Amino acid sequence: MQVARRLEQIGAYLFADLDRKQEELQAKGVDVINLGIGDPDLPTPAHIVDALMEGASDPRTHRYPPYSGTQAFKTAVARWYGRRFGVTVDPDREVLALIGSKEGLAHLPWAILNPGDGSLVPDPGYPVYRSATILADGVPHPVPLLPERGFLPELGAVPAAVARSAKILFLNYPNNPTGATAPREFFDEAVQFARKYDLILAHDNSYSEIAYDGYRPPSVLQVPGAADVAIEFHSLSKTYGMTGWRVGFVCGNAAAVGALAKIKTNVDSGVFQAVQHAGVAALEGPQDHLPQRLRIYQARRDRVIRTLRSLGWQAADLKATFYVWLPVPGGMSSAQFAATVLEKTGVVITPGIGYGARGEGYVRISLTTPDDRLDEALRRLTKAFGRVPQRGAAEGSPSARPAR
Ligand code: MLT
Repeated sequence: MQVARRLEQIGAYLFADLDRKQEELQAKGVDVINLGIGDPDLPTPAHIVDALMEGASDPRTHRYPPYSGTQAFKTAVARWYGRRFGVTVDPDREVLALIGSKEGLAHLPWAILNPGDGSLVPDPGYPVYRSATILADGVPHPVPLLPERGFLPELGAVPAAVARSAKILFLNYPNNPTGATAPREFFDEAVQFARKYDLILAHDNSYSEIAYDGYRPPSVLQVPGAADVAIEFHSLSKTYGMTGWRVGFVCGNAAAVGALAKIKTNVDSGVFQAVQHAGVAALEGPQDHLPQRLRIYQARRDRVIRTLRSLGWQAADLKATFYVWLPVPGGMSSAQFAATVLEKTGVVITPGIGYGARGEGYVRISLTTPDDRLDEALRRLTKAFGRVPQRGAAEGSPSARPAR
């Protein structure tokens, strides 16, 4: 059988590939520790699970859900936006339930691009922005995220012809995979850029609640008039430990939300209503689990960064997300380094090349593994790679911390 050419242009999904490698090693008896995918080990809070069970035992939820989401879910989203960001969104026209933000991001190019139209994708970036563009017969144009610019794109450096050929600008702050954050002013600039070139600015804000040391990530929709050009994707996965549940949402520009809704009515039949009922409990119920989670991630972050620096590795400070983005030590490629780490320690880390050409030279370490396994991974890394820290690369040295 010959598969479609568009499928040949996108490799295996990064984490499907890492899962396969992990399973191969486990079959050989290796005790693998997975610091690859960002899949929270901390369970979904009990009141959300209870709401699912309550919803599932109501036979009305067993039928098709409303395509765009239940009124209760969309209203809860709108209320959450008001409380969290001080932003008003119309639950009827500007909110759409998604089967996880990945699903919405993957379908967006189908709704916006004609064959040959471009999208501007951060490089490094979440692989779906690029692959979804290709699957819609569009052309992804990488926009470099460089360490010297704190991993923010230089929008003014995008050639005008490229910007004019594009219809979507993907952004994502707090950023996966670099952990970088964007100040509100950056979104002002991005909205202006999207207006200038008539782009839909698709902001992936899946990590908005995963932030430390008092930092509160902003929403692009806080920029006055942003909804003229912008939509913002959110996920319940990371905030509430609900990756397996598949529920997220998108808010903002009504025409783009409506176009995505039209694609989705033709492709899927919505989110199980019991899951949306649980989503309402997540968004409207007690939030005290969140500071508890963040304390755990923060303690892990501190242990991981301390250990990496003690190995002479230049881990940057981390203000948000649960990803440590680490320059590959010793001049290896990211794939070689990840393979060496796996071979020597049984620890899975993600090679930066999986996020685009500018991810080369980095690896990503996720903090979503139980404490005892994370500590075991750190012990193994120290045993395999430990050495006397070099001058200037030791813990606490400013030169050991690339600017962010
Ligand atoms: C990640 O680890 O980057 C994401 O959780 C993976 C995904 O959403 O597929």
